[in-house]
Amino acid sequence: MKAFVIRELGHPSNITVTADWPEPKLGKTQIMVDVYSAGLNFYDILQAQGRYQVKPPLPFVLGSEFAGKVSHGFSLPAGCPFKAGDRVFGATAGSYAEKVAVEVSAVLPLPDTLTFDQGAGLYVTWPTSYEALVGRANLQAGEWVLVTAAAGGVGLAAVQLAKALGAKVIAAAGSQNKLDIVKKYGGADYTVNYTKPGWQKEVLEITKGKGVDVIYDPVGMITDCLKCIAWKGRAIVVGFAAGTVEKVPMNLVLLKNISLVGIFWGGYSVREPGHIPSVHKAFLDLLISGRVSPPVVYQERFTLDKLSDGLKALEGRQTWGKAVVRVKDEPAEKAKL
Ligand SMILES: NC(=O)c1ccc[n+]([C@@H]2O[C@H](COP(=O)([O-])OP(=O)(O)OC[C@H]3O[C@@H](n4cnc5c(N)ncnc54)[C@H](OP(=O)(O)O)[C@@H]3O)[C@@H](O)[C@H]2O)c1
Repeated sequence: MKAFVIRELGHPSNITVTADWPEPKLGKTQIMVDVYSAGLNFYDILQAQGRYQVKPPLPFVLGSEFAGKVSHGFSLPAGCPFKAGDRVFGATAGSYAEKVAVEVSAVLPLPDTLTFDQGAGLYVTWPTSYEALVGRANLQAGEWVLVTAAAGGVGLAAVQLAKALGAKVIAAAGSQNKLDIVKKYGGADYTVNYTKPGWQKEVLEITKGKGVDVIYDPVGMITDCLKCIAWKGRAIVVGFAAGTVEKVPMNLVLLKNISLVGIFWGGYSVREPGHIPSVHKAFLDLLISGRVSPPVVYQERFTLDKLSDGLKALEGRQTWGKAVVRVKDEPAEKAKL
């Protein structure tokens, strides 16, 4: 099968796809899935270079999130809720390939209203943003939320979810095009370009001097954002897309009585697996009921052969929404777009 194989650690921008990689071996508690679309994540770029906390032995197939169909011609574990041909989404190591063998517990039915492209970014991106806002920051309706990299993968999901939860959202991003996108597709109430010096003053003006109750930050710019946080605000550490693990001056935490909270969604499968289904149910209910609009997919669909271009675009801040690789086309899917 075709797969995006990392043979030695390094930047994934020059990898050519392997055409004859062996299909994965199916474990007893696993199902085989034909991958139709897979989600591009910033951490893939780090993992290919050995700079991510999860370090698979070489050689390995890159990728984690996917949407596809349960493969025909493979056994299913006892009690498996799926049958061959079912539309599913999930995550497992090695999703940049035509097939993945995945634990049945890491797969969910893909709602009929969503395309494979929309489902490809659901399994990690959406629960990360939901658990960050609700489980970690205890976001309440009516509160102000500032989202950085708001047009990005986890950022746009956070904007959509915060709006659906009744918050007032200020979306911050690095270009006017991205701000337009997050307003149009995410429904942000206000937008701010955080590349402009003094952008925090705009946030303070918008919030009439109060500041924001919650900061959702995948960039690593908490210190900058604390200039416009409210008394007793909560700042969520989501990631470090800017490339540096940030060090926050603790006097700022003390002076405004604020809380710094982390989110590491991947850690829940080891430390708190019992919590995961309730998070999945919560954001899927919002999506299925239409209270939150479908996930926003970046306009260019990369193929497996062009995946390195997609990762380069993600790293180079060119993408918005969820960038996906289209592994397999299904003509019926196009009608839904
Ligand atoms: N904690 C968790 O459990 C968890 C789960 C998933 C992802 N994450 C983290 O969340 C972050 C975002 O991931 P993503 O996949 O959704 O990516 P993304 O948001 O689609 O892309 C990253 C965005 O960060 C912004 N950015 C600011 N400074 C940057 C710089 N120097 N270089 C590159 N980008 C920069 C860019 O937006 P602008 O152009 O608007 O500045 C860029 O589009 C990553 O750090 C990832 O590891 C964490």
